[in-house]
Amino acid sequence: MADLLPGAPVTDLGSLGPAEPLADYTARGGYEALRSALTAPAADIIGAIRDAGLAGRGGANFPAAVKWEAARQHPGPRYLVVNAAEGEPGSFKDRHLLARAPHQVLEGALIAARAVEAQEIIVYINRAFAGARDALAGAIAELRGSDLANALVPARLLVEQHVYIAGEETALLAVLMGRPAWPWPKPPYPTERGYLDSPTVVNNAETLAHVPLILRRGAQWYRERRPALFSVTGDVAAPGVFELPLGLPARDLIAAAGGPLAGDRVAAVLPGGYSLPWLRADQLDAPMDPAALRAAGTGLGASVIVIGERQGLGLAAAKIAAFFARETCQTCPICVTGTARLAELLRPGATRALTPPESDEITALAAAHRGKGICTFLDTAALMALTSAPQVTGAGQAPAPAR
Ligand SMILES: Cc1cc2nc3c(=O)[nH]c(=O)nc-3n(C[C@H](O)[C@H](O)[C@H](O)COP(=O)(O)O)c2cc1C
Ligand code: SF4
Repeated sequence: MADLLPGAPVTDLGSLGPAEPLADYTARGGYEALRSALTAPAADIIGAIRDAGLAGRGGANFPAAVKWEAARQHPGPRYLVVNAAEGEPGSFKDRHLLARAPHQVLEGALIAARAVEAQEIIVYINRAFAGARDALAGAIAELRGSDLANALVPARLLVEQHVYIAGEETALLAVLMGRPAWPWPKPPYPTERGYLDSPTVVNNAETLAHVPLILRRGAQWYRERRPALFSVTGDVAAPGVFELPLGLPARDLIAAAGGPLAGDRVAAVLPGGYSLPWLRADQLDAPMDPAALRAAGTGLGASVIVIGERQGLGLAAAKIAAFFARETCQTCPICVTGTARLAELLRPGATRALTPPESDEITALAAAHRGKGICTFLDTAALMALTSAPQVTGAGQAPAPAR
């Protein structure tokens, strides 16, 4: 299965590319969708995306068609922003997608821009991904020299020294406007008031790569095929980026990444990176699909991180809490103090089981912090601590071997 990412699965996460040239992309049907979109009514394009059920791949699984329609409700000028920040720990899919299949993302962005009548496309790329930036710049240049030059919407690449919070869409828009990476409270949503106070659609790079596929192969094909890129990392033998259908059991993704490290067993899986709760070792048959994972008490995010028994849940939980304490943007005092205290409370869990009073304090503190920040960062930090506490005392950890 290689509808999104041409070539073999990515097994070397550290090296990007090579980029698929325009001729190769065209040979596999590339830009057919854009050619038909040039004359199609916007409503038909959005209708196909809605029928396909395309959900955002940046972590929130928000329906792309609903977002595009929301932006169209507000008078222009409108903007399309491609989010290639990819700061989520364990996520590598966007940088490899952009580096390998830049035309696929570009075609999706051009179709989306057409559907929402955006006057400019702005691509935010994490400075660490030089290969992705070069590939996309090369793709734009190739298209400019082709018979599709007149289909190009003005496109700008903004390469930034990345901080985690800048991946959040309002913080990202603040950066695009030359301000610090500080989120703003929603509403207003970017689709109403975003870049330069204009309606703005922010989509993840992978989300846009699905768009040409849907228009070219049809919504029904897409619903049956359910392609997705999974970045599987952590305590696995062969971490990588894999194109697999949504809905496979978590254990199949672990197997695709070579299984657990030699002599190790799976203790838990984080199906949404550091942003969504754990799947326990006895839940590895859970389908990797947003709805099914929601039913299992978690969700599907940008990365899948496997935690082995050798590392242990306590150390993983301590690392996650430390990450949030480090990455807060410090705009809300409660986020600064809350994430710091949660990290402090979870730290001893790295080397020993937490005692019930310790875990009770974590639970109470996390519950008190939910919903108190300007953005969902504090919610996420609190939720991760809340769901970590019973794991670290052993109360929520299934003893059953995972394989
Ligand atoms: C703290 C935080 C960090 C985020 N980082 C990213 C990121 O690196 N890349 C991304 O696409 N979305 C990220 N998001 C989600 C974006 O805010 C936004 O929902 C997404 O870009 C929308 O695109 P989609 O609907 O295509 O998924 C982050 C959200 C939060 C709260
Ligand atoms: S909740 Fe935290 S990350 Fe979000 S705006 Fe407030 S301080 Fe920044």
